[in-house]
Amino acid sequence: MAYFVRKATLEDVAEMIRLERQCPTTAHWTEQQYANLFAASAESPVRLALVGEEEGGSVLAGFLVARYLPAEWELENIVVAPAVRRMGIGRQLIDSLLVQARQTNSTAVFLEVRESNSAARRLYEYVGFMETGRRKAYYSHPSEDAVLYSKTLV
Ligand SMILES: CC(C)(COP(=O)(O)OP(=O)(O)OC[C@H]1O[C@@H](n2cnc3c(N)ncnc32)[C@H](O)[C@@H]1OP(=O)(O)O)[C@@H](O)C(=O)NCCC(=O)NCCS
Repeated sequence: MAYFVRKATLEDVAEMIRLERQCPTTAHWTEQQYANLFAASAESPVRLALVGEEEGGSVLAGFLVARYLPAEWELENIVVAPAVRRMGIGRQLIDSLLVQARQTNSTAVFLEVRESNSAARRLYEYVGFMETGRRKAYYSHPSEDAVLYSKTLV
């Protein structure tokens, strides 16, 4: 099966939430927070929301949300549907973020992840992120360290 990446729209929000709710390891946002991605105002941060979709299909395979903090991007959330993992969709989503980051002349993309989230950590390392540090007991329920990763673009 072939998958492609496109920019998310407001119409994708319900499906993004459905996907996110299936994934206990990912960041959980309210419906309003997702809707705000598409209601940019002068005060709101610039965000990029991408979805992965099957060619010719209509069901979302995954999504990514990132925030622009000139001159860097923060990868805030990435989710791929359990049934289609290990098919390269996560990599495709991050590759598209890296293209966007380069287009904005950014110097790096950074993120943080639970120490125990080995699938996500392997993905980040696979696409070239380097571990840069840790935040002790950063997460709660359960308490866990955050591992910080960064990919330099220059
Ligand atoms: C992390 C996640 C997005 C990966 O998405 P994915 O589409 O399955 O990843 P890809 O198929 O693009 O993987 C690319 C490479 O990353 C590595 N990788 C990804 N998942 C892995 C896993 N479970 N175990 C080991 N390596 C893995 C592999 O090197 C893989 O290449 P390969 O399949 O050829 O060996 C997915 O597991 C997910 O949605 N997890 C739940 C949500 C989550 O925790 N998000 C992160 C929040 S910080």
